[in-house]
Amino acid sequence: MSIDLSPEEFRRLAHIAVEVVCEHLAALEEGPARKPVPKPHRARLLEQPSPQTPQSPEELLKRIANEVMPYPMGNSNPRFLAWVNSPPAPLGIIADFMASALNPSVAGGDHAATYVEHAVLRWIREALGFSQSSGAILTSGGSMANLIGLATMRHTQTQRVDRTAGLQSLSAPLRVYASEQGHSCIEKALILLGFGTKNLRKVPTDSNFRMDLHALASMVADDREQGYHPACVAASAGTVNTGAIDPLDAIADFCKEQELWFHIDGAYGGFGVLAPSARPHYQGLERADSIAVDPHKWLYTPIECGCAVVADTEAMRSAFSLVPEYLRDDTEMPWFAEFGTQQTRGFRALKLWTLLQQMGLPGYGELLERDIQLNQLFAKELSHHPRFEVLSQSHLSITCFQHVPTALNGNRSALEEHNTQLLLRLQQEGHYYLTSTRLNNHYVLRTCIVNFRTQREDLLGLIERLDQLAGE
Ligand SMILES: Cc1ncc(COP(=O)(O)O)c(C=O)c1O
Repeated sequence: MSIDLSPEEFRRLAHIAVEVVCEHLAALEEGPARKPVPKPHRARLLEQPSPQTPQSPEELLKRIANEVMPYPMGNSNPRFLAWVNSPPAPLGIIADFMASALNPSVAGGDHAATYVEHAVLRWIREALGFSQSSGAILTSGGSMANLIGLATMRHTQTQRVDRTAGLQSLSAPLRVYASEQGHSCIEKALILLGFGTKNLRKVPTDSNFRMDLHALASMVADDREQGYHPACVAASAGTVNTGAIDPLDAIADFCKEQELWFHIDGAYGGFGVLAPSARPHYQGLERADSIAVDPHKWLYTPIECGCAVVADTEAMRSAFSLVPEYLRDDTEMPWFAEFGTQQTRGFRALKLWTLLQQMGLPGYGELLERDIQLNQLFAKELSHHPRFEVLSQSHLSITCFQHVPTALNGNRSALEEHNTQLLLRLQQEGHYYLTSTRLNNHYVLRTCIVNFRTQREDLLGLIERLDQLAGE
């Protein structure tokens, strides 16, 4: 059995795969948002013994069609309104397939994939309002993009001592400030970077879940007095819980005055700057020292695709560059490997390059605006309904709410139990898929619309179904 396929055989098998994917796409509208994997099937997938004999490619494609494709995560479905996981734009699926066929390592060097990534990064800088001289790289996702921004911050704020003597040589511990609503990947990055969780100060938020600037200023002043080294504010341009955008311009002023690094986590909301109604809330975004954005969320690029942008290219390069002797030729342009953690890198850029041109930046603005408007409509319908209460609504596309039957009004623990059961039943039905979170210690249902397939009727249907289920 050869691992290679003749071009004819490849064509025949690829056509089978295309048919399977087309059937999957055609069934999305009617099918469930998510259905549980039956226990025996789960066991079969988990416990299948290691393959010892070759199997035919055709048989394997059939098995993918029968054993894998019927149990998707659900994010391609119009009624998937859970985490910040979007459907892949269909043209992106095709471009990803073609990128796999080329299979370059985009560490750098003179081949087309390098220039495609440079082009995409140029467009992203432009979309975010960053200078074209800033450093940028595509990453596996938002977590890695945040890690890259914060690693550059560490390098700069320790005056590059992190490379040689390391953080342990510093007498004053560095401190980072993020709001209580900041994403866990900021905390994880700081653990990995050796800061220690106690040096992440969680700043309280205002009534709209945005970082409270007075609290930030007093934490920084306290820390200075106690001998710490305040190093960075990691703000959010769209929190995962509510879609809150921290007051970016004011934080930029504060960071400048206090000589702090200004980092922005824009993994969910960064590209919201393209949407006309949301744009005013992003003032100051372009003043960040570093930002993480995530095309595999709201730009509908197939997973994985994140992006880190750092205003000071030289700082970014000096934080990551370590070029071994055997790679010191073919260096007309600096290699991507000098700006991030990976040496061998996938051709993530092709799917994004294709989609950005399919839509154009203004076209993406319209797509995002559509999700935002749908979210506003949803929140409005909920707030007019006698048995729903909206607990957060953002300028972006997330709403947190509760079902509040009159008999339970004001009874916090009963409401929590009621909404927990309601969500469980809705998830078991599978027609809609959403999740929950906690806000001010209230258990709330949460919807997030990063989905070009979701329609107004889906959202109205969700309200009706939740209310029906609650009555049953
Ligand atoms: C605000 C925010 N930051 C960071 C992340 C992490 O990004 P990723 O899951 O792409 O690593 C997420 C993921 O949902 C997010 O919503």
